[in-house]
Amino acid sequence: MKILKRHEEFAHGKPVLLIVLDGVGVGRLDSFNAVNIAKTPVMDSLFKGPRYGTVKAHGKAVGLPSDADMGNSEVGHNTLGCGRVVSQGASLVENAFASGAIFQSDGYKHLQEAFLSPNKTLHLIGLLSDGGVHSHTKHWYSIISQAVLDGARRIRLHILLDGRDVPEGTSINYIQKLEDFIKLQNESHEVDIQIASGGGRMFVTMDRYEAEWAIVQRGWNAHVLGQADFTFSNAYQAVTELKASHKCSDQYIPPFCIYDPNQHPVGPIIDGDAVLCMNFRGDRVIEISRAFEEVNFDKFERKRHPQVNFAGMIRYDGDQNIPQKFLVDPPFIQNTSGEYLADMGLRVFACSETQKYGHVTYFWNGNRSGKFSETLETYHEIRSDTCYFAEKPEMKAREITDAATEALKSGQYDMVRINLPNGDMVGHTGELDATKRAVEVLDECLGQLLEAVQAVGGAYLITADHGNADDMTQRDAKGEPLRDENGEILPLTSHTLAAVPVVFGGPSVPENAIMRTDLNQPGLSNVTATFINLMGFHAPPDYDETLINLL
Ligand code: 3PG
Ligand code: CO
Repeated sequence: MKILKRHEEFAHGKPVLLIVLDGVGVGRLDSFNAVNIAKTPVMDSLFKGPRYGTVKAHGKAVGLPSDADMGNSEVGHNTLGCGRVVSQGASLVENAFASGAIFQSDGYKHLQEAFLSPNKTLHLIGLLSDGGVHSHTKHWYSIISQAVLDGARRIRLHILLDGRDVPEGTSINYIQKLEDFIKLQNESHEVDIQIASGGGRMFVTMDRYEAEWAIVQRGWNAHVLGQADFTFSNAYQAVTELKASHKCSDQYIPPFCIYDPNQHPVGPIIDGDAVLCMNFRGDRVIEISRAFEEVNFDKFERKRHPQVNFAGMIRYDGDQNIPQKFLVDPPFIQNTSGEYLADMGLRVFACSETQKYGHVTYFWNGNRSGKFSETLETYHEIRSDTCYFAEKPEMKAREITDAATEALKSGQYDMVRINLPNGDMVGHTGELDATKRAVEVLDECLGQLLEAVQAVGGAYLITADHGNADDMTQRDAKGEPLRDENGEILPLTSHTLAAVPVVFGGPSVPENAIMRTDLNQPGLSNVTATFINLMGFHAPPDYDETLINLL
């Protein structure tokens, strides 16, 4: 039983609204900052004054290997949910490679058992970039090198192209480097390594939260069955030609297979093979893992379900044990705020649209998809559209806002926590005008939400998980925008290193409460104790300090 000590100076029993404005950082105030150029009367009035501040949301402050690492939703929500800095999957995987422990793991041995059998193949599937959010190319190189030393003779690579955590158009560079590496390995070790299939990450394989299973099915057909509408003799040609013919960005490249001169796929996945999913972040590979592991699977017609030795780089879901075998133990995130609230009998309403639904539930609770209490917690998903979000920058923000308003007014919840995805999901398209519009919609939603908090006499805390919409251009070392040959700016589709806003208020907040200024570089982990205070409690002693100063 986890106990929170009652805080004498904060109101008790009044609802607290916690809003995560996904991807809304505090960036440089120029014309490429969609938050800056958007018309945002509500944010303008909120993001100043004694109850406003910024916190770090990237690098070591959120448990990533270095301060060069941008933040992301997984680490941001993990940290907000648990109030401490936890070494994240990216760091744990990094350490496991550095110490060599990864090659002693049960997961690796499971793969080895299969790839050492005569005529069996080791397949790697995952995101091919060094974005460091879901995966890292250096891990591909390390795994291939070691597997070759350990006796793998046939390796097939199923590559998902990025352009979302790294700049658009860079996929071709990663392919080129990989091809050079493969050539060297093939020549010096007499092995047979080839790229076998691929596609853009937003169109092939990497769906999340069951938003669109067809994405996973396309990947299954290409990686496993060796079937795709487009076949090529090599990946470089595949990506160059598909991008030109489809006028698409890297993220949306259609699925393709590599075929040999006899028109056979070079690497379908068959019984007895070993399959390693290279991603270390779970949300976008849980579905493909399920397709490999589930006996009774009804999300799409698999046509063939090869019996393989499957493993993930890490365990993706700690409640459902997905996948069963993995190479690195996932971060051990315990005693999260959700667990405390449930043990204290506090009622929670958590809501977002599909694209971010798992962020305020699964990531929030330390990568567990279940609830702490069936009776006290309500998780409400609003189905996301399956469109290109620059064409619908409002997404489902108004529906999420209405659901939160209703939850607040119902009197049935002590905490209402929502994620508004627009700044991030539209920011990832790299389209400045659409992202500006997305931020304006957010501002309207905030207006409605603040009124609701006022009406119920509660409190609010508004923050973000990482930056994105706050910078929409790639920049040179001096910070000047980079432009193409026509003078157009090169869009930035990825997150940023920006700090994020934190502001609290509402009728139930004691008048003497202001933002602390004495903390040295506060981070997202300090936000948790802050909302626990607003709910009328002291944070657990091992949580990072609150941001509130009571004068
Ligand atoms: C994605 O998966 O969409 C990006 O790689 C990271 O975005 P998120 O961390 O905001 O989900
Ligand atoms: Co994002």
